[in-house]
Amino acid sequence: MFTVQAAGGAGMSREQWAAVDAYLVEKLVAHDPALLAALEESALAGLPPIAVSPMQGKLLHLYVRLLRATRVLEIGTLGGYSTIWMARGLAPGGRIITLEYEPTHAEVARRNFQRAGVSDIIDVRVGRAIDSLPKLQQEADDPFDLVFVDADKASIPEYFEWSLKLTAPGSVIIVDNVIRDGAIIDLESTDPNIIGIRRFNEMVAAESRVSATAIQTVGLKGYDGFAFLLVG
Ligand code: SAH
Ligand code: DHB
Ligand code: MG
Repeated sequence: MFTVQAAGGAGMSREQWAAVDAYLVEKLVAHDPALLAALEESALAGLPPIAVSPMQGKLLHLYVRLLRATRVLEIGTLGGYSTIWMARGLAPGGRIITLEYEPTHAEVARRNFQRAGVSDIIDVRVGRAIDSLPKLQQEADDPFDLVFVDADKASIPEYFEWSLKLTAPGSVIIVDNVIRDGAIIDLESTDPNIIGIRRFNEMVAAESRVSATAIQTVGLKGYDGFAFLLVG
């Protein structure tokens, strides 16, 4: 079990973070049956349990509302749990495009969107994100207000480059899983995911078009974090 040896020591465990998340969910996050069903159906279909936590989903939802977003891009759909959270926050006329490599994940997600009553406003594109992204640019639609990057971590540098091409000043880019139990400060790491995240941070450091922060989080999903980038 992963335990943090920090001031306070005893009790600062993954179990406690999950228990606190459960308490916060009960107090702050309305139980939407379609969101719960999306998680249940994803588990039944054998999808890995790596969707954002309810608290993180609500945070994404609040960002969508704060931005009054009508154009959202998600890279990495899984069963569509995060997608439904964001769809629930879209301004009238708003739409989400979500990119997923695994046809089975996309199929589960589509069923979940139907149940949640959001299939009309979500466009699931199956294939490698790196192949779908150039097509989005060719479509020459309006820039995305928000991009949520949550697919394979090794490709985060490429997804960041594409996010810059597909957004405009005022847009926000959020990247999930940028802390990974703190492994991102391991200079020796040969894990392609960690190398991808470290390269992404170097690119952000050298990129004058974005203003960035990253927040370390604990909770239901252990110790990880979000990067938050404002374009312009
Ligand atoms: N955003 C989801 C979780 C996504 S998990 C949620 O919070 O509910 C990551 C997803 O990215 C998985 O479904 C995986 O199949 C997908 N993925 C992995 N590599 C990919 C790629 N190269 N292109 C598109 N999707 C990819
Ligand atoms: C894991 C968690 C994620 O949020 C994700 O997008 C991919 C993998 C994980 O815990 O392995
Ligand atoms: Mg994630």
